[in-house]
Amino acid sequence: MKIGIIGLGRIGKTHLKAIQKIDGLKVIAVSDIDEKQCNQIAEENKIPYSYIDYNKLIANKEVEAIWICSPSKLHYEQVSAALEHKKYVFCEKPLEIEIDKITALLNSFSDIDKRLMIGFNKRFDSEFIEAKKNIAKIGVPTIVKITSRDPAPPTLAYLKTSGGLFKDMTIHDFDMSRFIVEDDVVEVYATGSINYIEGIDGVDIDTAMVTLKFKNGIICTIDNSRQSPYGYDQRLEILGTLGMLQVNNKKVNHNSFYTTQGKQSSVYQNFFLERYADAYEQEARAFLDCVVTKREFPATAYDALKALELAEACKKSLLENRAVRIS
Ligand SMILES: NC(=O)c1ccc[n+]([C@@H]2O[C@H](COP(=O)([O-])OP(=O)(O)OC[C@H]3O[C@@H](n4cnc5c(N)ncnc54)[C@H](O)[C@@H]3O)[C@@H](O)[C@H]2O)c1
Repeated sequence: MKIGIIGLGRIGKTHLKAIQKIDGLKVIAVSDIDEKQCNQIAEENKIPYSYIDYNKLIANKEVEAIWICSPSKLHYEQVSAALEHKKYVFCEKPLEIEIDKITALLNSFSDIDKRLMIGFNKRFDSEFIEAKKNIAKIGVPTIVKITSRDPAPPTLAYLKTSGGLFKDMTIHDFDMSRFIVEDDVVEVYATGSINYIEGIDGVDIDTAMVTLKFKNGIICTIDNSRQSPYGYDQRLEILGTLGMLQVNNKKVNHNSFYTTQGKQSSVYQNFFLERYADAYEQEARAFLDCVVTKREFPATAYDALKALELAEACKKSLLENRAVRIS
């Protein structure tokens, strides 16, 4: 399957590497408004087509599937154009930062679940998959705790187009909670603060704690921080009626040193590029597999909508300092 990638920043380059490992997928076109970087990446990777204008990539008849890795505020127009050109589409999270636009996509393309996959990469992480498979060992789940803390914040330019912490960062964890609990949320409460990033007062927060109450009674907490001095922190804990399950952080290596200073071990894997490298590859494999077997993708526009609804409800909860019911 011949692929075009739009956006060659942090995640676009990562997807390029992941796709290159998969037999059956070949990147033949790239697009970025940074012409120099776009041409350089095309040249280094022997990619025949390089465009500044993404519309040209979408119109290229040889391109069968498009990976959208541009800033979030561009996703809707690029996804719509690609679907109208009958392409298969992989779109990075968040699919959109406005609910109406996702609803418009769902209403416009009846076969969207087999044409558009969303980059909720945590669903493809082997540790989280293993945890989900074994939930029954701890009985009936009662509490789910998700921790997601970045080692360092993104640039202010990135933050300004991101849609805010809940839509940009917590969105992964909203989806994770739905993936693990397999039910709908009926109520949210969110609180947040600014501790690290200057110049975002009144625009965004960099620290948040969210509580989600699911229809089946499970309570989930999500804690997010845009900065974490000890590294990228990605943990999951589930309390059940018969026990507890924990997914801990992956380290650079698993050596332990015992000295007069106590026990020391390696630092955590640096950031998402390292921690989820395998998950990005697995999601590309899942994409190809679903196209070939004509099955629905494992993360769809509907999942993106449900996660965005939670992000909106959390924003409201934060602003109004109260719990918000989800209708
Ligand atoms: N799933 C994940 O783990 C993950 C991680 C990081 C980012 N993301 C998502 O990926 C998207 C991109 O994030 P990033 O961190 O790579 O950002 P980035 O700023 O590093 O890269 C964005 C790239 O898009 C290019 N671009 C801007 N306008 C364009 C246009 N009109 N046409 C083509 N290219 C254009 C920019 O020049 C830049 O190279 C965001 O939606 C973000 O939420 C997902």
